[in-house]
Amino acid sequence: MEKFVRENFIEKSVEEIKTIVGGRKVLCALSGGVDSSVAAVLTQKAIGNNLSCIFVDTGLMRKNEGDLVMETCGKRFSLRIKRVDSGPRFLAKLAGVTDPEQKRKIIGAEFISVFEEESKKLESEEGEINFLLQGTIYPDILESGSNGAGVVKSHHNVGGLPERMNLELLEPLKYLYKNEVRIVGEDLGIASELVWRQPFPGPGLAIRCLGEVNEEKLSVLREADAVVREEIDVYNKQLFTQTGAHDSADSVWQYFAVLPDLRSVGMKNGVRTYDHAIGIRAVKSENAMTADWARLPWQVLETISNRILSEVPCVSRVFYDLTPKPPGTIEWE
Ligand code: XMP
Repeated sequence: MEKFVRENFIEKSVEEIKTIVGGRKVLCALSGGVDSSVAAVLTQKAIGNNLSCIFVDTGLMRKNEGDLVMETCGKRFSLRIKRVDSGPRFLAKLAGVTDPEQKRKIIGAEFISVFEEESKKLESEEGEINFLLQGTIYPDILESGSNGAGVVKSHHNVGGLPERMNLELLEPLKYLYKNEVRIVGEDLGIASELVWRQPFPGPGLAIRCLGEVNEEKLSVLREADAVVREEIDVYNKQLFTQTGAHDSADSVWQYFAVLPDLRSVGMKNGVRTYDHAIGIRAVKSENAMTADWARLPWQVLETISNRILSEVPCVSRVFYDLTPKPPGTIEWE
C-alpha cells in the first residue's frame, strides 16, 4: 500500500463509519489481537464514545495478556472497555473434555454466552445498541470455508456471534489482508508491540494444552510460553535492528510453547521426578496456509531450554518441534 492509499483508507473508513452508524451505538468484542484493536480504534475515531467494547477474559490467555490489553487499548486510546473475568466459567465447561474440536465449540459457545449477557447489561444501562463491530479480515472469510475448500479447524472469528445477536455487522477491515491491517494500525498510532503481534488463536491456550485443560496444566504452560516468547522476541528484535523489516526472511512468524498430555521421568537435585514435557513450536510463514519450522540458532534454543527447566516448576523435559505444515498444522490441536 502506498502512503497515499493508506491515509486515504483511514479517512474514507472514518467517513463511511460515520455515515453508516450516525448517532447510533456500536458494540465490539475486543480480543486484544491486531484486528479487533485496529477495528476498534478506527471506529472510535469515527464515533467516539458511542463505541463500547467488551473484553471477555477467558482465563485461556497468555501470561499478563489481559492487563496488556487494558493498558494498550484502554489507557492509551481511552477506549471504553469492560473486562469480564470469566476464567472459572470456561474451565468448568472444559472439565473432562479432550477432543480439540469439542474444546473449540465449547469455548466459542461460552464466549457467546458471556458476551450476550454483558451486552444485555450494557443495553439496560446505556440504551439500545445497533451494531456489532468485528475485526474480520479477508483471510477469515476465505478460511472459514466460504471458498468451498472445507474447514480444517473451526476458527470462531467469523460466525457465531452475529447470528445470535440481532445487530447489524460493522466490518471495516473485511477487504484487508493482515499486513495491510498492520499498516493501518501503525498509521493510527497503535503501539508496535500490538501491531506486529504474532497471531493467537481464539480458543487460546486450551488448544496448546493437550488433553484435559485444568488450571495446574495451564499455569505450567503459561510460564513456559512466556519464556519462549521472551527469548524469540529478543531474537526477532535483533533481526529487526539488522534489517529494518518486521518480517525479514529469518524472523520467526509464530512461536509458543505446547504442553503435551504426557509425563516423563527426570532427576532434580538427585531425586527422581515424573513431570511435564514442554514443546517449543516456532514457525516461519507468510499467511499460515503453509509453514516451516524456524532454523533457530542453537544458542536461542539452549537459553529457552535452560530457562524453562530452571524457572518453570514441574517440567523435566524440553523439545523442539521440527514439523512443517503440511503435513502438520501450526497448532498441535
Ligand atoms: P493451523 O494450526 O491450522 O493454524 O495451522 C493456522 C493459523 O490459525 C490459527 N488458529 C486459530 N485461530 N481460532 C483462531 O482464531 C482457532 O481455532 C485456530 N486454530 C488455529 C493458528 O494459531 C495459526 O496462526
